[in-house]
Amino acid sequence: MAKSSAPAAETKNKEIRIAIAGIGNCCSSLVQGIYYYKDVKNDDELVPGLMHNVLGGYKISDIKIVAAFDVDKRKVGKDIGEAIFEKPNCTQTFCHNVPKTGTIVKMGPVLDGVAAHMKDYPEEQTFAVSDKKAVDVVEELKKAKVDILVSYMPVGSQKATEFYANACLEAGVAFVNSMPVFICSDEKWEKKFRDKGIPCIGDDIKSQVGATITHRVLSHLFAERGVTIDRSYQLNVGGNTDFLNMYGERARLKTKKISKTEAVESQLAKRLSYDNLHVGPSDYVPFLKDNKVCFIRMEGRKFGNVPVNLELRLSVEDSPNSAGCVIEAIRLLKIAKDRGVGGTLLSASAYFMKHPMTQFTDEKAREMIEEFILGKRER
Ligand SMILES: NC(=O)c1ccc[n+]([C@@H]2O[C@H](COP(=O)([O-])OP(=O)(O)OC[C@H]3O[C@@H](n4cnc5c(N)ncnc54)[C@H](O)[C@@H]3O)[C@@H](O)[C@H]2O)c1
Repeated sequence: MAKSSAPAAETKNKEIRIAIAGIGNCCSSLVQGIYYYKDVKNDDELVPGLMHNVLGGYKISDIKIVAAFDVDKRKVGKDIGEAIFEKPNCTQTFCHNVPKTGTIVKMGPVLDGVAAHMKDYPEEQTFAVSDKKAVDVVEELKKAKVDILVSYMPVGSQKATEFYANACLEAGVAFVNSMPVFICSDEKWEKKFRDKGIPCIGDDIKSQVGATITHRVLSHLFAERGVTIDRSYQLNVGGNTDFLNMYGERARLKTKKISKTEAVESQLAKRLSYDNLHVGPSDYVPFLKDNKVCFIRMEGRKFGNVPVNLELRLSVEDSPNSAGCVIEAIRLLKIAKDRGVGGTLLSASAYFMKHPMTQFTDEKAREMIEEFILGKRER
């Protein structure tokens, strides 16, 4: 993986205190990654899986998980180092020595986090809501002196996402919105964060190498090489709770579909009609667990109006794919906090999120991030 073009960073001996809401598969990969990469101390070597070993002076081992929230009875009350391995989480274990952290998962308000259809599936595949009373999240964030909260709410959790965004505004905590409820890309919400001088990155993670970035880069390639795209689809299947949640209630999918479609459409030379561009999470296949399989087809015309068709199958473990980006977003938000910058970080959102305030090509967004790290760009 390409490393930063920034000069070797001076490391800072400062903690980045994070809270996580939603101790699902993405959280599991992130927490495992924090321990897997704990000994990465400098930029001298190419470390597989990392974009920056040290980012703006921050090492991965500077990230401390100091608060955690979920609603599942198998996770609430447990140390986060144990809760990440509880069912229905099913992502690969790539770090076998995650220690107890001393941070206990607290009960959050359920709100619309758990869709009605989730009750129709065996407990080991679905959410099992705890009967504990929700804690005061703002108080917990303040007590734990949290810098940044990462929200991993299930798709369709409008109220729960807004709840955690508001908690961040009240507690003065920076916000990473990993899912497609539009907060950091929404003008009104963005203004609230800017007015309070609190930075945020969102919405809806664009994975390290996943369906969206692959489809975007290929769309951009076709456009740049003068190939007209007439039709394209991106079908995705997987067997984790993210897919189960999206599969059972199509209404919860509305913003996910917008987010995924716009991420691809923004890279085309000419917008396609709804009928000619189909992008979506498509089916739940339990035995796939956290393995997501994506099928992309692109139909275009090149020189002489001669057809060109591309068919691609991409198979990825879904959750480490998002963690590779969140580990960057956390450190970028800490830099913004150190600099007193509030509002949506446009560069990081464009590079790491499917639905940023403003879309750029991934190449341009990457350049913008490097400028931000060097202090040449405010946001
Ligand atoms: N995997 C990726 O690469 C990727 C990419 C883009 C976006 N996302 C999005 O990130 C989000 C998280 O994905 P995941 O795979 O970890 O999902 P998941 O289903 O594994 O985890 C969701 C967690 O949220 C908890 N939860 C539900 N309601 C809650 C509430 N009100 N308060 C606190 N916790 C609550 C559940 O118990 C569960 O532990 C999803 O919206 C997903 O679409 C993931």
